[in-house]
Amino acid sequence: NTGMFTYDPGFTSTASCESGLTYIDGDAGVLLHRGYPIDQLAEQSSFMEVAYLLLNHELPSKAELEKFTYTISRHTMLHEQLATFYRGFRRDAHPMAIMCGVVGALSAFYHDSTDISDPHQRMVASHRLIAKMPTIAAMAYKYSIGQPFLYPDNSLSYTGNFLRMTFGVPAEAYEVDPVIESAMDKIFILHADHEQNASTSTVRLAGSSGANPFACIAAGIACLWGPAHGGANEAALNMLREIGRPERIPEYIARAKDKNDPFRLMGFGHRVYKNFDPRAKVLSKAATEVLDKLGISDPVLDTARELEQIALKDDYFAEKKLYPNVDFYSGVILSAIGFPTTMFTVLFALARTVGWVAQWNEMISDPDQKIGRPRQLYTGPTQRDYVAVDKR
Ligand code: SDX
Repeated sequence: NTGMFTYDPGFTSTASCESGLTYIDGDAGVLLHRGYPIDQLAEQSSFMEVAYLLLNHELPSKAELEKFTYTISRHTMLHEQLATFYRGFRRDAHPMAIMCGVVGALSAFYHDSTDISDPHQRMVASHRLIAKMPTIAAMAYKYSIGQPFLYPDNSLSYTGNFLRMTFGVPAEAYEVDPVIESAMDKIFILHADHEQNASTSTVRLAGSSGANPFACIAAGIACLWGPAHGGANEAALNMLREIGRPERIPEYIARAKDKNDPFRLMGFGHRVYKNFDPRAKVLSKAATEVLDKLGISDPVLDTARELEQIALKDDYFAEKKLYPNVDFYSGVILSAIGFPTTMFTVLFALARTVGWVAQWNEMISDPDQKIGRPRQLYTGPTQRDYVAVDKR
């Protein structure tokens, strides 16, 4: 009992760790970062401020935020030799494959921040990861479309810098559109951290062995890629585009309910939320706002809204407590901004790096932390003697 929240004994016995970063109440649809509701942070804060909050327990003063943002900006460049890594990939490589490879390779270039017993090196590695993810992600996109890489421009905001590296070209000046910058920053905030989800648990488990933070984040990226997890935003937009017209929705609802059909509604359902994912509510509103401000009308948004309405009235979804999650509307906004679906999970990984790094720091700085070692219920054969191959 922390005075604010009390847990039933069953819950505490299954909890994989103690953490003070993010609180989720799945039944009530509540998500707090260090006590602050996600909708307030999404509407009033900035991604750099939320990064500071997750890493340092409290919202920063103006001076603290300026210092933190400046520190992060000092690490946005990538070692020049890492740029050659990209040329080893096929142009049509999925950007998440490139992210796994390049982030894992960071530990080969930044040896001076891999000693996890040194708090200063842990902090430098944390700042490097947060700072370099936008550069690495933008380069993965540029490589996939055959355009030259752009170096960071630290006169821009964290998010503006990323947008320019992604959509800018050497031949022209790039003006950061404030509508797009604000939408992108909000999306980063909404994806920053989410308690002990599969990829965060992967980062913690890898980190518990003493692996360096770059390797741990690469492991988290690999896990996030799965369509049941972070890959769902790409799959959800592809599904909405495949449905195409609202009149085809009943066919997909029927497939989602058919026990013999492996199809699931992408962007629906959640391991923890048995109510609306609060992030989906913010994104649903933002989708309309951003498309209106950009003067874009995307029929996919109409299909998403119609699908949500029909599913929420359907007994199957009500009984199973299936609601839209963070991945249901995010793709509509990302597509309007200009990203291909293959970049959606990369953007999720970029934002979630803040949460992974904060969770890793929380774990690694715990003096009582031990290596993770999940156990199993053994279901194989009882002991038996070996039989030579000519007697089998
Ligand atoms: C993320 O953990 C996190 O916090 C993750 C995340 C984060 O920020 O890190 O929130 C991000 O990963 C969000 C989830 C993105 N994934 C998708 O949108 C993919 C589609 N959703 C499903 O695959 C599914 O809902 C999961 C994987 C998210 C959860 O699957 P579970 O654990 O099986 O869900 P459940 O136990 O609540 O399912 C209850 C029932 C099951 O049927 P029965 O076994 O009871 O017969 O509902 C069914 C499920 O088969 N079901 C669905 C469904 N999701 C669950 N049926 C149809 N469509 C769906 N989307």
